[in-house]
Amino acid sequence: MIVVSEIADLKTIISEWKQNQETIGFCPTMGTLHDGHMDLVKTSKGQCTKTIVSIFINPTQFNDPKDFDAYPKNTESDLKLCEEHGVDLVFLPSVEVIYPKSQTPIQMSIPSLQTTLCGRTRPGHFEGVLQIVSKLFHLTEPNYGFFGLKDYQQYRIISAMVEELNFPIRILGVPTKRESDGLAMSSRNLRLSPKDRETASLIPRMFQLAKKTLLGGEKNLIVWKEILTDFLLTGSNVKIDYLEIVDPITLQPLSNLNGELLLATAVFVGEVRLIDNEVLVSP
Ligand code: PAF
Repeated sequence: MIVVSEIADLKTIISEWKQNQETIGFCPTMGTLHDGHMDLVKTSKGQCTKTIVSIFINPTQFNDPKDFDAYPKNTESDLKLCEEHGVDLVFLPSVEVIYPKSQTPIQMSIPSLQTTLCGRTRPGHFEGVLQIVSKLFHLTEPNYGFFGLKDYQQYRIISAMVEELNFPIRILGVPTKRESDGLAMSSRNLRLSPKDRETASLIPRMFQLAKKTLLGGEKNLIVWKEILTDFLLTGSNVKIDYLEIVDPITLQPLSNLNGELLLATAVFVGEVRLIDNEVLVSP
């Protein structure tokens, strides 16, 4: 496995791969890798002849500096995991490499997709995500980009950027990998106290309840949302950032429960903000 930190070194390898007609799969990450990330790698390896993982904790996507400072860093075990899973190249740049001081700041946004859900309570977050992902796409020149569907809004926004700006990249969403109690795998789970970790299992159980009540014929969106909200709030130390039912493509709120819908939530358990998303179908 090749590990590079400098852009020039990365570019040399990419141009060799391009000359050899390799199909490049790219899995951008912020490190503290877990099985969810490795599912991105496995999907990439099934589809592409070369797989790149980037590990970069991107400062421009943290609207809260405390969250950035608390973000875990585990480079040694990340590299080991990548090697074990057959990653071909890890790009591990420093902040100075990605954002040299002389850089003229640039901001990208897709307002209609960014002002809902996480965009409402994390101003600037998706601008930062688009900035880093577009930069990494230019640097790694992949044929495919792999993104976890746990971060559905991010997946949707990046898909829209690629489509609107004609990036020659295919974006694939990879299903959420879950712990044995159903909690979506996330680097943030490590920050939960044992008691809060137990409470966090209310989130996947809420999704189960959502499916059960939908299949049971619940058609009133307000009642449905109330049932789910009340269920989440049975946990101590739980604060709901949002619980929304939106159109999976436009991310705009739905006014009735018909057909495909995205159930999206962000919940604070203690100090830790956890998100989960699922596309459900109302019969
Ligand atoms: O999902 C993440 O880990 C990050 O938002 C990403 C896509 C690596 C950009 O920094």
